[in-house]
Amino acid sequence: MILNTELEHKGNIFPSKIISYEKNLNVLSFKTANGVVLQVTVRRDSVLRFRYTTTGIFENDFSYAITKYASRGYNFLEVTENKANYIITTTKLICHVSKSDLRVSLYDAKDKALICEDELGFHWEESYEFGGDVVKMSKTAQPGESYYGLGDKPVDNNLKGKRFENWVTDSYAYGRDTDPIYKAIPFYTALHNKKAYGIFFDNTFRSFFDFCHERRNITSFWAHGGEMNYYFIYGPEMTEVVANYTDLTGKPHALPPLWALGYHQCKWSYYPESNVKEITAKFRELEIPCDAIYLDIDYMEGFRCFTWSKEYFPDPKRMVKELADDGFKTIVIIDPGIKIDMDYSVFKEGLDKDYFCKRADGPYMKGKVWPGECYFPDFTNPEVREWWSNLFKELIEDIGVKGVWNDMNEPAVMDVPGKTFPNDVRHDYEGNPCSHRKAHNVYGMQMARATYQGLKKFCYPKRPFVITRAAYSGTQRYTSSWTGDNVATWDHLNIANLQAQRMAMSGYSFVGSDIGGFAEQPNGELYARWIQLGIFHPFCRTHSSGDHGNQEPWAFGDTITSVVKKFIELRYQLLPYLYTAFWRYAEEGIPILKSLVLYDQDDPQTHYRNDEFMFGEKILVCPINGPNQKGRRMYIPRGLWYNFWTDDVVIGGQELWVDADLDSMPIFVKDGSIIPKYPIQQYVGEKTIDELLLDVYYKLGKEESEVYEDATDGYDYIKGRYSLRTFKLHGKKNELIIQQHKSGKFFTTYKTFKLSLHGLPFKISKVQIDNVEIQFKDIKLNGDNTLVLTKEFTELHIMA
Ligand code: GLC
Repeated sequence: MILNTELEHKGNIFPSKIISYEKNLNVLSFKTANGVVLQVTVRRDSVLRFRYTTTGIFENDFSYAITKYASRGYNFLEVTENKANYIITTTKLICHVSKSDLRVSLYDAKDKALICEDELGFHWEESYEFGGDVVKMSKTAQPGESYYGLGDKPVDNNLKGKRFENWVTDSYAYGRDTDPIYKAIPFYTALHNKKAYGIFFDNTFRSFFDFCHERRNITSFWAHGGEMNYYFIYGPEMTEVVANYTDLTGKPHALPPLWALGYHQCKWSYYPESNVKEITAKFRELEIPCDAIYLDIDYMEGFRCFTWSKEYFPDPKRMVKELADDGFKTIVIIDPGIKIDMDYSVFKEGLDKDYFCKRADGPYMKGKVWPGECYFPDFTNPEVREWWSNLFKELIEDIGVKGVWNDMNEPAVMDVPGKTFPNDVRHDYEGNPCSHRKAHNVYGMQMARATYQGLKKFCYPKRPFVITRAAYSGTQRYTSSWTGDNVATWDHLNIANLQAQRMAMSGYSFVGSDIGGFAEQPNGELYARWIQLGIFHPFCRTHSSGDHGNQEPWAFGDTITSVVKKFIELRYQLLPYLYTAFWRYAEEGIPILKSLVLYDQDDPQTHYRNDEFMFGEKILVCPINGPNQKGRRMYIPRGLWYNFWTDDVVIGGQELWVDADLDSMPIFVKDGSIIPKYPIQQYVGEKTIDELLLDVYYKLGKEESEVYEDATDGYDYIKGRYSLRTFKLHGKKNELIIQQHKSGKFFTTYKTFKLSLHGLPFKISKVQIDNVEIQFKDIKLNGDNTLVLTKEFTELHIMA
């Protein structure tokens, strides 16, 4: 951990004893004899912030990650002291701060169990080269402790035994264990003795996490500058930790338009226009649902952002309209590098307004990307972001583009060491000028934010859709994301699965991979298996570099085409279910995907599982992740589950073999669930939904399900024009009761539900709706346990 080896005499320095203590409402300050100040802020009963300075003075308190909408407030706060410690107590936590050395220990306020304790605690090295400190924290790993999170790391779910770096990096064809890659999300959740807590190290400098790698019983994190500034988030449930972290760094500012949860097709590149049209026409011809088509860099004039190639796309407005008439949203790529070209208006304007990043001694930051030599806007300057957002006017308002794809925003620079800006580049950082060392990890985030602001403005009254490659904590507020340039291999299918789960437990749910792999070419089987996984990722897009062949659903022959079609259709059927999960995520920060450990942390079997995950609250999925498989073994978490394809009920808490030929995959539904489905549509909005299918899975006992709907786009839902149905299912031996509670002012287009009853253990002889017995002809009992009834019921009894 010693970094500045030549200056080792300035090595580890430690706080000495506390000489004074101050309390200012919820901010407690402890000062040591050698000038260190620890500031503990009680943000919530379960969220404490720890901030240290070695100079007695704190930096301006500014963070790109923390949202102003974060919840604050606590029920109880008391500070007492004994001989050895100051003791901070809230309703959830007890925090000891040692008087002799400033070390911190945290306990559960209810049962007094130790949750997390400093080993060496805070310490630092002075940085001669850059000034300031290398700030460090080390904690004692608790017995049996496991670690999860950290964004897009392409490794197994449980991070124990590994070390990681956070420095967003363009990582073409990365692989398992490549580190760092595109994102910096310095947040992890730890779990031991059935209790989970999280640590968010809000420091944008190059940072590191070590989970019992360097020393077996020690977890540590450190950064090459800035402050030791971290949030401690107590659960004890992992989902609470993730939800609280997401609350702190922000939930998506709006729901995505429903079409953005449809299937997207992309390639580097579809051009000219005739090629784009061929692709979209083929989707409609084969009746494979698709909502979005992407234009990669070749749509531009010499890769100049905000221009169109006259040769390939002579009339973009007409084309975009024709595509829209056929149900396709057009999404275009926009990179940060602005080509140096005095005849190019965006460049000229950026230069005139002094919006490009500069080196320490004054020259512009010049770097090569797709267009050749470029300058780069300083997105950490709010004025630059405002300018950038206005550049989207023509694309969005006039031409009708519906989404923007931000790429290369690490920022990536070609043919240079480190593949990015040098350290000395200057940034505004919201009026806190700094070098690239501090701004690097947020550069892409601020670009995506500026893009989002533009789309929000010019799409209005519709909702924006933006996707970014680089991200820091909090980027989930503005945009979706994908996992970058992966490879068409089976291991990458596994990596995609891990990354989507890991991003979800890092507060970032709207994520997917390049289905089939970006680099190289999958065979049909790999592509089909990857589609099966991909339809269960919140963002679902096929993308490929195209240099090894085609990667459309029909590119691998008829058998594969029909498998791919079947699964994309399933995605569209499940849209109301996914949209409901998204709404839960946007409301409460509950991740859309849950690794098994998040689903059932008390079951130690889940702590090292990688493949299986929950899609929403009710559906368990496990991809087939190798060639020539007719099924696989998988762990079924505790409880009873219905095989989605056969309705066979399995008992969880064990590993089982599950059949899954190429046209199938392991999918299970939790007993008692009610799963809403829409009819298959070629694109969102193609059909008026005139009946909502509810798949009801009988359970002996009780279970709750919900269905959220709104106008699928626009902001009326924020004013209460949504429809939330909560179903309480209660299954008895001879009876199934479903109660419905409806809230919100949105009227769904359908008038009826079609209930499909799965696993009903009795023959129906009587049905009652709201205390009135209903004749079978009125409710259309179909003999196959499906019944059609009014959507307005409050209580339904189905009796033997
Ligand atoms: C980068 C992106 C990739 C894109 C390509 C060309 O490699 O990650 O998705 O297709 O650039 O723009």
